[in-house]
Amino acid sequence: MTTATSARVHNFSAGPAALPESVLEEARRDLWDLHNTGIGILEHSHRGGAFDQVIDEAEADCRRIANIPDNYKVLFLQGGASHQFFMIPANFLTKDRSADYLNTGVWSKKAIAEAKLYGSVHTVCSSDDKNFSYIPAPDKHKFSSGAAYCHFTSNNTIFGTQFRAEPTPPANTPLVCDASSDIFSRRIDISKYALIYAGAQKNLGPAGCALVIIRDDFAQSGSESLPTMLQYRTHIDEGSRYNTPNTFAIYLMGRVFKWIIAQGGLPGIEDINEQKAKLLYDELDNSDFYFPTVTDHGSRSRMNICFRIRDEALEKPFIQQAEAAGLRNLKGHRSVGGMRASIYNAISIDSVRALINFMHDFEKKNG
Ligand SMILES: Cc1ncc(COP(=O)(O)O)c(C=O)c1O
Repeated sequence: MTTATSARVHNFSAGPAALPESVLEEARRDLWDLHNTGIGILEHSHRGGAFDQVIDEAEADCRRIANIPDNYKVLFLQGGASHQFFMIPANFLTKDRSADYLNTGVWSKKAIAEAKLYGSVHTVCSSDDKNFSYIPAPDKHKFSSGAAYCHFTSNNTIFGTQFRAEPTPPANTPLVCDASSDIFSRRIDISKYALIYAGAQKNLGPAGCALVIIRDDFAQSGSESLPTMLQYRTHIDEGSRYNTPNTFAIYLMGRVFKWIIAQGGLPGIEDINEQKAKLLYDELDNSDFYFPTVTDHGSRSRMNICFRIRDEALEKPFIQQAEAAGLRNLKGHRSVGGMRASIYNAISIDSVRALINFMHDFEKKNG
């Protein structure tokens, strides 16, 4: 098999994002022939023995990575993270109840809008006043009592902010998290959550599939008068195979899980992610030419680093010249402007160094 690495570039995309190259090589092999079955992964029945092994291993490795307690279920669901925005309130929120939401960015707002279709929403805190450039401090979190659940977005992909620690709602309030852009990027204590979900396309695999980790008693407390596909219990009872699931996404997530384990699991991954983020933030903090958009150190994302150039007119040429130099997808989201480097798990420290070297060169020519 020839290697594809020579033609690849540094891909700082916010999602779908770069995947580990060793995983892509394995996928290339298994697309043709999975485990010497003479059938590729895309062509296997989702109910056959070969796929049983794929999904069983994916779940077992996921459980191992996050040390998931036995009373939690691991689900691979279709529709991505946005599907969870309405599936959660559909299951757990009713017109006579209220859910707590922390409003820290575009994705939180979208989740809130869906929840309002089912019941009331109490805003625990919001960073809307400063264009979501910070995470409100714990003493600003005003939880309600008796909320159906409390929802937060652990990492705000667009604004480059991230919770350092989980919010702490009252003890009887189930904690729900959209971890789409930082799942398995650091250690996690699953027992703090009732439900945690993530679209796969950043740290886990292909788009269109969500990993959902849900406490069984919480899942069973959900509405029973929903369409079958919308009830978590359906997917629990059928092992994520009520209908034909996204078999390839489950396969690929399984390969990524094995890759995470090979990196030393979450402690190893967290360590390298901290190093990568520190390199880039140090560069930005020490520069008179570039600056980070998130100034509060405790709010800074280690996954999506947003920055700008003091002379705004230089941002377009920066992005164009970076593209030409093989540093792709650095354009920031339009609501922040400037640049965003998404440095998820699969981005190597060498890619971060390549970006920093380019930043130096660009500054020398234009500073
Ligand atoms: C934090 C967060 N939540 C939700 C989503 C939406 O995910 P999906 O496109 O899988 O619905 C995204 C997508 O970028 C995201 O970054």
